[in-house]
Amino acid sequence: MKNNFWGKLNKPILALAPMAGITDSAFRQVCIKNGADVVYSEMASVSALFFNPQKTLDLIKFKKAERPYVVQLFGNNAEHFGVATKIITEKVKSDGIDINFGCPARKVYSIGSGAALMSDFKKSREVIKAVLSNTDLPVSIKIRSKVGKKTGVAFVKYIKDLDIKVIMVHGRTYEQGFVGEIDFKAIKKIKEIFPGIVLGNGGINTPEDAKKMIEKTGVQGIGLARGIQGKPWLFNQVKDYLKKGKFKERKQEQIFKIALQHSKLAEKEKGEFGIIEMRKHLCWYVRNMPEASKLRQKLIRVKSYKDIAKILKM
Ligand SMILES: Cc1cc2nc3c(=O)[nH]c(=O)nc-3n(C[C@H](O)[C@H](O)[C@H](O)COP(=O)(O)O)c2cc1C
Repeated sequence: MKNNFWGKLNKPILALAPMAGITDSAFRQVCIKNGADVVYSEMASVSALFFNPQKTLDLIKFKKAERPYVVQLFGNNAEHFGVATKIITEKVKSDGIDINFGCPARKVYSIGSGAALMSDFKKSREVIKAVLSNTDLPVSIKIRSKVGKKTGVAFVKYIKDLDIKVIMVHGRTYEQGFVGEIDFKAIKKIKEIFPGIVLGNGGINTPEDAKKMIEKTGVQGIGLARGIQGKPWLFNQVKDYLKKGKFKERKQEQIFKIALQHSKLAEKEKGEFGIIEMRKHLCWYVRNMPEASKLRQKLIRVKSYKDIAKILKM
């Protein structure tokens, strides 16, 4: 094992959970700056890496300012997982590799990947073994509390002898998708039976939610996803709340400053396309402001950092 960074992180670990279309390099850099302890990439297809890697390599490249950095892979073919893992280890050189066992999106699920892979225990085990035997980086997995009749607890019992360092558990079933109650009991049970680190995920939108997840399940860390959209400082707010029992809201000027830093990075990484993608983040940043709707009307048209600066430096 090269360097299992996971073991060196302070607990509770605050992770930026993977989000396709959201957790790109610019956003990951912003999250690290605002208190994230580790960040995950957008999910990357192992079959794309196997057949035609360049586009996917562009998707998962990273900067020093976003470490520790975990690349998440999805797919349904153990051989492709093995080759993709080798490419990540030798060319991308991330700090860790994660396997997606939770995605419910039709185009992923219908080909036996994501949550569908989790429901096939035998194949999942083959995939994990293929990844482990092609890397010396720490390997983590991300699962759901349940898929159909297959529980996360049964899944973890089936694979827990393998050298997996971390499991992020999204406490919702495949059938729930992205809404509804979090199954804290399932996460707690997984924490009890798994010898490594468990990160609780799902529905953490405030520092109080973070505390509740940790207290109800005993996990060593949490994964934040939609709660971070337009609010990357939630990481630092969670840290403050867990340490001191209180946290500060950010003022409008502070939010604009972070939004501008984010926009600058987005333009630097991806040019005008980065700014087009940035529009949704900008709408999230301003969503609770008194002038939100007026600002949004302008922000959805921006094409450059300069356009954004003109609007936010009023
Ligand atoms: C837009 C979007 C994209 C996502 N992409 C991924 C992904 O690529 N890989 C993954 O494992 N989970 C993905 N997720 C799931 C999140 O990581 C997380 O498990 C889920 O949103 C629940 O957490 P939350 O309630 O805090 O949002 C995605 C979620 C959203 C909303």
